[in-house]
Amino acid sequence: MKRILLIVSGGIAAYKALELVRLATKAGIGVTAVLTAAGEKFVTPLSLQALTGGKVYQDLFSLTDESEMGHIELSRAADLVVIAPATANILAKLVAGLADDLASTLALATDKPVLVAPAMNVRMWEHAATRANMAVLQQRGVLVVPPDEGAMACGEFGPGRLAEPPAILAAIEAALNDGPLKGKHAIVTSGPTHEPIDPVRYLANRSSGKQGHAIAAALAALGARVTLISGPVSLPDPFGMVVVKVETAREMHAAVRNALPADIAVCAAAVADWHVAPAAQKLKKHGSATPPTLALSENPDILAEISKPGTRRPALVIGFAAETENLAAHATDKRARKHCDWIVANDVSGTGIMGGDENEVLLITGAGTESWPRMGKTRLAQKLADKIKEFFA
Ligand SMILES: Cc1cc2nc3c(=O)[nH]c(=O)nc-3n(C[C@H](O)[C@H](O)[C@H](O)COP(=O)(O)O)c2cc1C
Repeated sequence: MKRILLIVSGGIAAYKALELVRLATKAGIGVTAVLTAAGEKFVTPLSLQALTGGKVYQDLFSLTDESEMGHIELSRAADLVVIAPATANILAKLVAGLADDLASTLALATDKPVLVAPAMNVRMWEHAATRANMAVLQQRGVLVVPPDEGAMACGEFGPGRLAEPPAILAAIEAALNDGPLKGKHAIVTSGPTHEPIDPVRYLANRSSGKQGHAIAAALAALGARVTLISGPVSLPDPFGMVVVKVETAREMHAAVRNALPADIAVCAAAVADWHVAPAAQKLKKHGSATPPTLALSENPDILAEISKPGTRRPALVIGFAAETENLAAHATDKRARKHCDWIVANDVSGTGIMGGDENEVLLITGAGTESWPRMGKTRLAQKLADKIKEFFA
């Protein structure tokens, strides 16, 4: 039986942790609960004990608890540490490495993955301190179930409301997944990049991120630890993975480097080939004799760089080729030039594929070319994930 260590910190949404315990136990996941001092103001240890069917830990310096199960052992006895709800306070403590109570000491001492479901007032969530803390935690690989947007208990409106327990459970199940890709780290890039021209304009492309996000989800479903690096998209963050949001190709390049080492890289993002040096102020039409000229400079080639031989090269590097003519020839050429292992090639010439829900591709590997018929992007992602699974089998 898989087991989570559930830390309930002191937010108004702590009552939802009881529902989470109920759902998790129903799904066959064992729960050991830890309650912070502030958490106890919102839910009683007795409720948690009744639902988990076990002892609720609260005190770092309890002689009885320490003789039963030391705090280090407690931090490692579960497969996953879940903090739900996670207060602004406990998130800041995680970032700083503070260990001044049982919950924060366990979070620091654990050798297991940590998943947080933040919940707080919208101002607290949007405060620069919390933004910076969340960025650090995600960079460290802490899994995040982002808060929902909506009316809050405090009467304000916005993001900060604890995600619903079924969504948190889905993320827990993904993190506990013992699938065939368990232990493998996959970097997936997705979506377009935006290259600013001035403070309000940018160069972009029609990529929606649907295919890349679906691949990230399919790999996570097979048990891989996934880092999804996404350009600007209007899709919800998939659960159970680290999501790094970037805007430009150069930011995506830095994020990919940061996420290495990895076993698998799927470069599905439609990365801009060029950028311009953005103007500091909005370019004005009025008063300029001629239209401005955009001087393009080349962006880093993420796929070529990640495919270079070396100790940090993922065992399997998959590139995407979006072509409007001579699909097979261009894609085969791209595979050879970039030195990636596989290329997924799609014809994006006015077929509704870019931005649409379906895709039709050629998969070009060292072993030859497979033609995959038109299918939903989710189905295609699962098919590709199965191929990746076979590669590592
Ligand atoms: C009524 C009330 C509701 C609160 N709700 C939240 C909340 O939703 N999120 C949050 O981050 N802090 C909230 N706080 C503040 C935390 O309880 C406080 O920062 C506390 O120190 C957190 O301790 P902990 O992180 O150790 O549990 C609330 C406080 C009160 C009095």
